[in-house]
Amino acid sequence: MKRNLMMVGMVVASALVSQSALADAGLDLAKAKNCMACHAVATKLVGPAYKDVAAKYAGQKDAEAKLAAKVIKGGSGTWGAIPMPANPQVNEAEAKTLVKWVLSQK
Ligand code: HEC
Repeated sequence: MKRNLMMVGMVVASALVSQSALADAGLDLAKAKNCMACHAVATKLVGPAYKDVAAKYAGQKDAEAKLAAKVIKGGSGTWGAIPMPANPQVNEAEAKTLVKWVLSQK
C-alpha cells in the first residue's frame, strides 16, 4: 500500500516536470523566433493573446495543422484587420511545436 502511494507520487511528479519542461521549451522557442514581439500569453498585443487562441480552437482536431501552416505563411482576417506576416525563420517542425505550446495555454 505504501509502495503504491509512492509510485503514484512519482508518476504525478514526473508528469508535472515534463509539463513544465514543455512550457519552458515552447516559450523559449517563441522568444527565439520573435513570436513574442507581437504576442503575449495572456494579453492582446499586435496579435491575439495565446490564451485566446487556445480557447478559440479548443477541441478542434485540425487546428494544429491549420495554425502551423498559418504561422509559416502568415495571414489575416481571423482576429482583425492586422495581418500576421510570414515567419520564414520557422520550419514545419518548429511551427508544430510552437502551435502545440500555444494551444496548451489556459
Ligand atoms: C509582426 C507581428 C507578429 C509576429 C512576429 C507573429 N505574429 Fe502571430 N499573429 C499576428 C497577428 C496580427 C495575428 C492575427 C491574424 C488574423 O487575424 O488572422 C496573429 C495570429 C496568430 C495565431 C492565430 C492564427 C489564427 O488563424 O487564429 C497564431 C497561432 C500565431 N499568430 C502564432 C505566432 C507564432 C508561433 C509566431 C512566431 C513564429 C508569431 N505568431 C509571430 C502577429 C504576429
